[in-house]
Amino acid sequence: MMMRSDSIMMKMIMMLCIWAVMAAAEVQVPRVFKVGDEFGWRVPLNNDTAVYNHWASSNRFHIGDSLSFVYDKDSVMEVDKWGFYHCNASDPITAFDNGNSTMNLDRPGLFFFISGSNGHCTNGQRLIVEVMHIHHEHQPDGSMPPSMSPLSASPSASATPTPSAASTSLLASLSPPFAAFLLALFCFLS
Ligand SMILES: *[C@@H]1O[C@H](CO)[C@@H](O)[C@H](O)[C@H]1NC(C)=O
Ligand SMILES: *[C@@H]1O[C@H](CO)[C@@H](O)[C@H](O)[C@H]1NC(C)=O
Ligand SMILES: *[C@@H]1O[C@H](CO)[C@@H](O)[C@H](O)[C@H]1NC(C)=O
Repeated sequence: MMMRSDSIMMKMIMMLCIWAVMAAAEVQVPRVFKVGDEFGWRVPLNNDTAVYNHWASSNRFHIGDSLSFVYDKDSVMEVDKWGFYHCNASDPITAFDNGNSTMNLDRPGLFFFISGSNGHCTNGQRLIVEVMHIHHEHQPDGSMPPSMSPLSASPSASATPTPSAASTSLLASLSPPFAAFLLALFCFLS
């Protein structure tokens, strides 16, 4: 049925199929991100004050992932937006100073973290992470779904997602490359 002149076309379809299979197979296994990578969690250097902005924007966070803060003689707090912008550590959602703290990203939307150590936050040791919304790869800042209150999220209680939540987030993670998924399916069927 395929003519010889179609061989380039065939190759292109093959490559598209391979890409589609790879893209569709990129199922989101929960990941642990080490905040700041090698730099860790500490006061930014003078020549790199936006280190945590850069770090956050170079990663993609999904529901079920977690952040690992590794630090020395410091602390990390999850705070609300107000606490973040005012570097106010007086009313944290959660607070740790054990040197190796894991924060679960258990809902979509924004998470705010600051150092609770004196002067560190104002010197740039703070981090905003945006977790992908279900069905939306990109969501404008500050839009929280009303059903999800960040203040009510207790890390211990919500650390283990229910199976249905897990499968929902699995599907959600597929929705942007959903075309790839369909294409992969098509490739298998044809
Ligand atoms: C910032 O300065 C440190 C030394 O203090 C250096 O190791 C690092 O490479 C510099 N980073 C940038 C982005 O220039
Ligand atoms: C932080 O906020 C509280 C109110 O929530 C206020 O009483 C306190 O003075 C603030 N601290 C600083 C350092 O701004
Ligand atoms: C931090 O804790 C995790 C496990 O909770 C461990 O895998 C990791 O090696 C620890 N890192 C440091 C620097 O202690």
